[in-house]
Amino acid sequence: MESSRRGFMKGAAAAATFLPSFSILSAKDITIGPKDDDINVALIGFGAEAKVLSESLVRIPGVRVRAVCDIWKFEQQRARGFFKSYGHEVKTYEDYREMLEKEDKNIDAVVVATPDWMHCEHACACMRAGKHVYCEKEMSNRLELAAEMCRVQKETGRLLQIGHQRRSNPRYRHCFEKVIPQMLGRVTNAYAQWNRSLLPFNTVKKPPKQSVLDKYGYKNPEQFLNWRWFYKHGGGSMVDLGSHQIDMFIWAMGVPPSSVTAIGGKDAFSPRREAYDRVMCIYEFTLPDGTKNEAYYQVLSSNARGGFYEQFMGEKAALTIAEITARGNAVQRDLGNSVNGWTNEEWRGFIDRGLILPGADDKIKKDTPKDVSVDTRITALSEGNPISVELNKPAHMPHLENFFAACRHGEKLNCPAELAYESAVAVLAANVSADTHKTHYFKPEDFKVPPRPAATPAPAAPAAPAPAAPAKA
Ligand SMILES: NC(=O)c1ccc[n+]([C@@H]2O[C@H](COP(=O)([O-])OP(=O)(O)OC[C@H]3O[C@@H](n4cnc5c(N)ncnc54)[C@H](O)[C@@H]3O)[C@@H](O)[C@H]2O)c1
Repeated sequence: MESSRRGFMKGAAAAATFLPSFSILSAKDITIGPKDDDINVALIGFGAEAKVLSESLVRIPGVRVRAVCDIWKFEQQRARGFFKSYGHEVKTYEDYREMLEKEDKNIDAVVVATPDWMHCEHACACMRAGKHVYCEKEMSNRLELAAEMCRVQKETGRLLQIGHQRRSNPRYRHCFEKVIPQMLGRVTNAYAQWNRSLLPFNTVKKPPKQSVLDKYGYKNPEQFLNWRWFYKHGGGSMVDLGSHQIDMFIWAMGVPPSSVTAIGGKDAFSPRREAYDRVMCIYEFTLPDGTKNEAYYQVLSSNARGGFYEQFMGEKAALTIAEITARGNAVQRDLGNSVNGWTNEEWRGFIDRGLILPGADDKIKKDTPKDVSVDTRITALSEGNPISVELNKPAHMPHLENFFAACRHGEKLNCPAELAYESAVAVLAANVSADTHKTHYFKPEDFKVPPRPAATPAPAAPAAPAPAAPAKA
């Protein structure tokens, strides 16, 4: 079993070497091996998100974690302990090049969960080494690096799934495939927010040695631990949290945006933050028929009031959804629509057909304040019906399962590189708009991956460094 998979992976990697740029391999051509074969996995980066992913990895049948790379010895040690407790013996490395060289024959796929600025280097090196890659969002904090990831994916024929995990969440899929198209009517507007309390900069008692930080591009422990707030490494709240939700706007609207106008704040709480911790912005979407839709987005790292959720507003109903059900879980009928609104019978039909669960809609509230005379334009409010599909596993698990199903037997990826590239274009431009205080207008071709600039040779992974003397954790 082992040898047949190895043989197949070698063959697939060798074949990929001779592929012309932009040749399209169908996912079936790059299947790892027999359906019941183990997939051997390595991780690069074992910080907070990698741990969340690992909770799912150890629960997915046939997935075996073999190696972990992290520049921080402390995290290497944690990785060994974590995986051991689930029966996985992992080797740990400081440098990904050494890991790829030494573990080449033992690894089929790599999960990249390093800070955004390293995604391109890590994902591309793994794909060039013949590995399929699951890479965390944001694809990159620099658009040219996100584009390079797409190009290398095409050239190598490897799978590249980006970690916008809502794309595989059955609640979201139910809503985007059934609730929105069947129940909302024409959707003209969307709203989303992610509000968080103010958090001080992370500090730890024993960060990696400064020599290690210097080697890997972090000026000091503060940058290393709080990379999201530094433009070299991250892109602030918009790139961190907005990336998930702007992706949902694009999914709902069916087209990428035509403009974004943003404002941002970063100076209220810490003069040391380079990137915006608060952004408010409006995206405009131009539909194929020339009509326009608008979406408003707010991300605050100053106060958590209201939490996080996404809302889609159609002429006949609205959907409020969040990754955590308690934060958003309602399909609300627009009771004031006397032109083409849903009748009671039609609404009950959606319950009968399993799109929504029975809800509080019988308790329709007439919005009639007692102390003022009622304006006829004040409409009745529906309390809404819960979404009928629940996710009963960790939020990231379906997205990883989709990735491994694509590796094993050619299932279509739910967030392939080109799709994630669209949201990267949209998200990164919000920071530009906030910087310039100007609306950023997109051209349709902005969302297509450009060819590699002629002057730039394809970045190759540098040779692995000579093994360092073993360091104490
Ligand atoms: N999908 C989601 O819901 C979600 C949630 C949180 C974070 N993320 C993403 O996951 C990624 C990691 O975020 P995090 O919160 O875990 O950050 P983190 O700072 O907690 O962890 C990053 C880890 O990478 C290691 N690292 C840094 N540079 C490295 C290098 N050159 N080589 C190897 N290891 C290196 C660090 O030592 C650290 O352990 C980011 O891209 C982030 O946007 C996704």
